[in-house]
Amino acid sequence: MSEHDTTSRRGILASLAMGAGLVAAYGVLGLQGLAFLLPKRLRPKTRLLYAGRIDDYEIGGVKTLYDLEGTPVLVQRSEEGFTAFDSTCPHLGCKVHWEPDNDRFFCPCHNGEFRPDGVAYAGPPGDAGQSLAKMNVEANPEAGVVYLEVKDVKRRKA
Ligand code: FES
Repeated sequence: MSEHDTTSRRGILASLAMGAGLVAAYGVLGLQGLAFLLPKRLRPKTRLLYAGRIDDYEIGGVKTLYDLEGTPVLVQRSEEGFTAFDSTCPHLGCKVHWEPDNDRFFCPCHNGEFRPDGVAYAGPPGDAGQSLAKMNVEANPEAGVVYLEVKDVKRRKA
């Protein structure tokens, strides 16, 4: 083997090492670029909101909370656990509220009446067989707190 062959082989190995270094460097740069771009695309479309302590809810009662857009959400506690209802009436979108004395959800726009499980039994929503939309709510008994899953909203720039 001549000295020229050795020098040539070292040159090839050096070029390969330099190429591998460049690929690794651009690869890391590319991954960092993706990490910068992807979280926005992968950002969850919902958010968990603290909805109070479990003990703040009486069994059979309903509390009105608000999502991030200011829409009332009706959170109910029963013997079985927690249920959350979107307060938007499925008929034409008025706001439904809880009437504890009548043990029903009521929509004042067209006298829509809903059972505690959210199923309509009177008024136009009852005629159409509609129900209040449910939202995800979860209680954490160990921590003694309730969380409500709501639609995320875009943040406004100051
Ligand atoms: S909008 Fe609720 S009953 Fe019509």
